[in-house]
Amino acid sequence: MDTPETREYIAGKGRVRNFTTNLAHKTIDMRGFLSISLLLLAGSIIAQEPDSLIARIAFGSCGHEDQPQPILDTVLKHHPDLFIFLGDNIYGDTKDMQVLRDKYAQLGAKPEFQRLKAGTRLLATWDDHDYGWNDAGRHYPFKAESKQIFLDFWEEPAGSDRFNHPGIYHSYMFEGLGRRLQLILLDNRTFRDNLRSYKGELKGDGRFFYTLDYYPHETPDSTLLGEEQWKWLEQELCKPADLRIIGSGTQFGISYNGYEAWANFPHERQRMLNLIRQTGANGVLFLTGDVHYGEISKLESPGLYPIYDITASGITSTWSFATPNTNRIEGPVMDNHFGLLTIDWSDPDPTISMEIYDIRNNQRVEYQVRLSELRSGKSGGN
Ligand SMILES: [Fe+2]
Repeated sequence: MDTPETREYIAGKGRVRNFTTNLAHKTIDMRGFLSISLLLLAGSIIAQEPDSLIARIAFGSCGHEDQPQPILDTVLKHHPDLFIFLGDNIYGDTKDMQVLRDKYAQLGAKPEFQRLKAGTRLLATWDDHDYGWNDAGRHYPFKAESKQIFLDFWEEPAGSDRFNHPGIYHSYMFEGLGRRLQLILLDNRTFRDNLRSYKGELKGDGRFFYTLDYYPHETPDSTLLGEEQWKWLEQELCKPADLRIIGSGTQFGISYNGYEAWANFPHERQRMLNLIRQTGANGVLFLTGDVHYGEISKLESPGLYPIYDITASGITSTWSFATPNTNRIEGPVMDNHFGLLTIDWSDPDPTISMEIYDIRNNQRVEYQVRLSELRSGKSGGN
């Protein structure tokens, strides 16, 4: 009982008491948690009853600490097993670490945040504003201090691998029903090289009626994830899993739109696709945030199954227009919203439902795929 992995559950006992798993409309109380087997696998925790598996994952991003966040109560109506904060969880935008701490405290003091925390398990990664500065990358001077504040606020369990490396990338493995669900949270900030400024390259293109900030790098001498995180990710993708959810603060699957996105590092995005292909990692899909509206993108790549990117980015933020995105297959949802991923593990070929609910609890997007559609037919990794 004294191993690092068990301490997570001792430290998080208050949350675990209320941590329920919905499976085929059946709610399983997790109070008998001591009977659950725990296993540490290279930093990823497998912690499930053998006859259940996490099936409802809610997610969102872009919540301003100054504003009420009623969408968090809407989330609870859907009884998720997890809620993933995908970044811009506060608008820090400061180089004063006390200000950053105070803004997190402001979020933490919100009754709706506390209700969400009491009602489900919270996991998080960051994007630029909670990292510390708009569109910041590796040159942000307070990244180590900001990381500590992040780990404190999100109550990172003692013994977590997040304490052992720069940045906050991390993974989780959930096992049950003879299946494995892997959750990988990327760090798009700590190692990211500078973006390339837009200098009018697309002037006259009527799709881009707004001010573009960035233009894609055209040489492969810059990085988004950094070499250490890439090496770690390769090891993660080689672990056996049925479904792999990758959380990324910025959008992965969209076409170039002049704002921050993986599309500004085309060689890094291609590296991700190549890595998925080379490791034979089946079942990958992305959850992303950042843009202040919701949508689903579908990224096609030769020799690889379609990569879906479900963006939920509107806990409090909204945007007045949605940028061009040739990969968009659902949305945009311009109202405050959250995303919900539901996996029907009872089916031999599980259905994965991707939904977006707005602030009035209206379902605005639903798109379904079968797990078998997220396979390239290549063996290995799974
Ligand atoms: Fe952002």
